[in-house]
Amino acid sequence: MCIIVMFVQDNGRIGDEFMRQIESIAAYTPYMTCPGNHEWVANFSQYRSRFSMPGDTESLWYSWNIGPAHIISFSTEVYFYLEFGLDLLFTQYQWLRSDLEVRMGRNDTTPPAPGLEDLFYQYGVDLELWAHEHTYERLWPVYNYKVLNGSSEEPYVNPKAPVHIITGSAGCREKHDGFIPHPRDWSAFRSSDYGYTRMHVINHTHLYLEQVSDDQYGKVIDKMMLVKEKHGAHAWS
Ligand SMILES: *[C@@H]1O[C@H](CO)[C@@H](O)[C@H](O)[C@H]1NC(C)=O
Ligand SMILES: *[C@@H]1O[C@H](CO)[C@@H](O)[C@H](O)[C@H]1NC(C)=O
Ligand SMILES: *[C@@H]1O[C@H](CO)[C@@H](O)[C@H](O)[C@H]1NC(C)=O
Ligand SMILES: *[C@@H]1O[C@H](CO)[C@@H](O)[C@H](O)[C@H]1NC(C)=O
Repeated sequence: MCIIVMFVQDNGRIGDEFMRQIESIAAYTPYMTCPGNHEWVANFSQYRSRFSMPGDTESLWYSWNIGPAHIISFSTEVYFYLEFGLDLLFTQYQWLRSDLEVRMGRNDTTPPAPGLEDLFYQYGVDLELWAHEHTYERLWPVYNYKVLNGSSEEPYVNPKAPVHIITGSAGCREKHDGFIPHPRDWSAFRSSDYGYTRMHVINHTHLYLEQVSDDQYGKVIDKMMLVKEKHGAHAWS
């Protein structure tokens, strides 16, 4: 379970109320957090002081292993709230590089800038989950504006680039977001229904993901089976 809370409003009282409402679930189901833009007030201090995720970075970024998966949680907010200093951006980038290197093997091709797409590609990251847009979108494997399907019949079997899923439609007082009218080549499926994503890391090669629509009373509106026989820095070769 992943939660996003608006601690900004009313000096954190909206966040308090949200946490009270989910207590009956959160008390029994493990959950991990990552900061979002709504936590920015006072340099993310509400977020940093309320949650305690693994590692020593005040829960801003961290990683853990579960079954055969290595999962990394990180903050894209370090690229947006530069008024809090550039330190976080570079510290997180160095941390991401060494975390990926330990887990995925060394890749000596140094990305030219502390952006994320090259970094994740060079270390052979399998799947990237993004949020922010109040929508759901599944992409074909893509890198540097190029669709790199495994094959056109089975795009997600040994894809040649990471797979991206945008999933941020859990519900919001700002309501639904729309889409640009003409999807780009890499857009495989889009939905603006409220809903959530379920993921099952089945084993070392297979990962299953599905999107549930709340607007359609729990209907599964999208499915993907990602199959990868090679992982890490040499995944694409
Ligand atoms: C914001 O918080 C981070 C993390 O604790 C810290 O490294 C940074 O210096 C802070 N920035 C300001 C402007 O207080
Ligand atoms: C690093 O990653 C790139 C992109 O996947 C790949 O072309 C290159 O062969 C890798 N280098 C090494 C030393 O593994
Ligand atoms: C990728 O695979 C999908 C599904 O088969 C197909 O619609 C799309 O055209 C493919 N893209 C490329 C560049 O091969
Ligand atoms: C991994 O899971 C898939 C899907 O259930 C299955 O087809 C495959 O045989 C499994 N692989 C291993 C090594 O168990």
